[in-house]
Amino acid sequence: MKKITIAIDGFSACGKSTMAKALAQKINYIYVDSGAMYRAITLYSLKNGLIDENGNVDVAKLQADINNIKVTFRLDDKTKLPITYLNGENVEADIRSMEVSGKVSAISSLGFVRRAMVTQQQELGQAKGIVMDGRDIGTVVFPKAELKIFVTAKPEVRAQRRLDELRSKGDMKTTFKEVFQNLQERDNADQTRTDSPLKKADDALVLDNSYMTRDQQMQWILERFEEVINKGV
Ligand code: DC
Repeated sequence: MKKITIAIDGFSACGKSTMAKALAQKINYIYVDSGAMYRAITLYSLKNGLIDENGNVDVAKLQADINNIKVTFRLDDKTKLPITYLNGENVEADIRSMEVSGKVSAISSLGFVRRAMVTQQQELGQAKGIVMDGRDIGTVVFPKAELKIFVTAKPEVRAQRRLDELRSKGDMKTTFKEVFQNLQERDNADQTRTDSPLKKADDALVLDNSYMTRDQQMQWILERFEEVINKGV
């Protein structure tokens, strides 16, 4: 069967990654979490003193380093899901911290960072058979993707989901208010940055999953996938 490219964009913490991962597993496609790449660059910047507590970035130093920062993915033996590596080190847990979430917008708004990531993302998708999620996948990375989905959910629902995720990973300190504020700040930064802001591609299908279960979402997206495949793209 011919393989296609699936671009899933949308707001922070609206379940894009969960849905994209499950879909990729089900249809046997590669899954790439583009947000993990921006998070890994943010972690690198934090570890190397290239970003201060106010989010000011040492742009010259990061620009000098950018081509030597390698973000890669390897499949976990047990779960078969991708684990993010930063220059060979497993950083999957560290990139999900609130510290990284609080600084990632400062990094992901930099044009030279975006260009480097987009190049890597396009290389990963060359052979198609890929599900990639992010903010600019259907608009910038794969504008010709055969299936584009724009996911959204109510802010309170998203904040609760992200809090549940942090709790399940052992973070008992972060409050609902902190998560909610962080999401609002990131929504705003994502939508207003000059370089590839978050917006729905004209040909993307909208999915509001505020009141949907994971199974319902899965069924919805599988139907959309089958429609495209049956059209014989
Ligand atoms: O999907 P996420 O929350 O893990 O993404 C982390 C941040 O990276 C998010 O605040 C916006 C940014 N991002 C982006 O600018 N472009 C993408 N394609 C993916 C993520």
